[in-house]
Amino acid sequence: MSLPERVANRKIYLRADEVPEDVRQFIVKMLTVQIQSEYADAPDRSGSVCPTVEDKAWVDFQIAQEKEHGLGVSRILQDMGVDPLPYIKEAESSVTVGGRKLDYFRLRMEDWVERSMTRVLAERTGGIQSIGGLGASYVPLAVWHAKNYVDEALGHTAQGNLYAKRLVEEGRREECQKAIEKFYPSCLDIFGGVDTPNEKRYLELGVKTLSNNQSRLLWIKSLERDLKAMSLEMPSALWKGNRRVYPEESLASTGLYLEASDVPAAVRPLLAKVISGWVQAKYARQNEMAVFAAPTPEEKLAVAIQYRDDRKWGLHTARMLSALGVNPDPIADEAERSLTGGEHKVDFLKQPLPESWVEICLQQWIAARASQTASLATFGSCLVPLAVWSGIHYDGQEKIADQWLQRAQALDRASIREAGPKILAAWYGHALRAFGAGGSANEAAYCNAGIKMAANDQVRRIFVDLLGRDAATLGLSVPDHEHSRRQMSAAA
Ligand SMILES: [Fe+2]
Ligand SMILES: [Fe+2]
Repeated sequence: MSLPERVANRKIYLRADEVPEDVRQFIVKMLTVQIQSEYADAPDRSGSVCPTVEDKAWVDFQIAQEKEHGLGVSRILQDMGVDPLPYIKEAESSVTVGGRKLDYFRLRMEDWVERSMTRVLAERTGGIQSIGGLGASYVPLAVWHAKNYVDEALGHTAQGNLYAKRLVEEGRREECQKAIEKFYPSCLDIFGGVDTPNEKRYLELGVKTLSNNQSRLLWIKSLERDLKAMSLEMPSALWKGNRRVYPEESLASTGLYLEASDVPAAVRPLLAKVISGWVQAKYARQNEMAVFAAPTPEEKLAVAIQYRDDRKWGLHTARMLSALGVNPDPIADEAERSLTGGEHKVDFLKQPLPESWVEICLQQWIAARASQTASLATFGSCLVPLAVWSGIHYDGQEKIADQWLQRAQALDRASIREAGPKILAAWYGHALRAFGAGGSANEAAYCNAGIKMAANDQVRRIFVDLLGRDAATLGLSVPDHEHSRRQMSAAA
């Protein structure tokens, strides 16, 4: 079984200076629209329409998150050499102004019912649109989409659902239904045209992985599911926007599963295997003695916080496994109970942690960088919650790897010179093997099922490159390429 074309041709850019000019142009084109959406909600969408103090607090929380999204977009634009401020100023100047502003943002919300129902409809467009960016070739953009999905789909939309449910229970179903009819067409239009030359380029360049109409379909399906649960109805003309009537789309064409319950029986065991590997990695607790080795109260707290976050990411993978019908408890338990136990545990995590703080700093830097990079393989994965988790986990592990590297950088150079080569010799080979064999039957099966979207060797090369850059800042060098190659073929 060979790798599918999308994996064989997969491009992954970590830094703006690696991004080719045509990709850069299309990222900028997309984000200058996005930025006007993030800043379009002021000033007439204030908390004054909210009926309770709880709701007023929620609006401020939500608006703060929109500014976080805006800051994320601004940073990517700046990295791409574009000043975001003129776009922000224009978007904020009035409800109707903004050359890159979507029609939806020019509509007025009259009251609390409309505000609540736009949470259900329009916030959902933001979340769903991010699905098509979870496998974007530019990693900071893919990570932005993962965070945006969490806020928009699991936060703003979910809160809207709660409000809508409350309104229906208060007997205001008809008003809610009227608001759905008012805003639905302009929300459909948010996804953009069909088969346009622009859209074709976005897909070819790997800036997006779903067509506009595929995203539109996912939005319809997601909305349908939630409205049904609240005994509200979809408009009769499902594909009729204000700008045009869109052609119907098939769910199979997306290759995606919005929720674990949508995954077909044939794909479940493969997904469960990949996720079990992460569950065991997160519950292995190889590193838990590092809190005791940390030299100051500040460092002990910082390390404990890292473990808290790691456990949280572990919990998310365990929940995904549950949703697939696999009990995660014995799998987590098996990994945690002993150092060498765990059917899905990689060899790296079966080694004892070194004892001294300097050695721990170096070992944990390698561990976190490997964990960060390994999550790249499931960016844009077919199971949307896994794809989202991968982006969030990548970002978190990158910060943890940076922290360990900074700790090592702050230690005296003589001790790094002494411990560095020893730690690299002991751990680097295990780290390389953790990415899985290149050209194996397992790899092909994961890639053909759409679970992994990048080849093991490609991800491993990125790790080698990142670790090499880090090591140079410590005056160390990673074992040479010949050695890496041998390690890689040993893995195969
Ligand atoms: Fe947003
Ligand atoms: Fe939002």
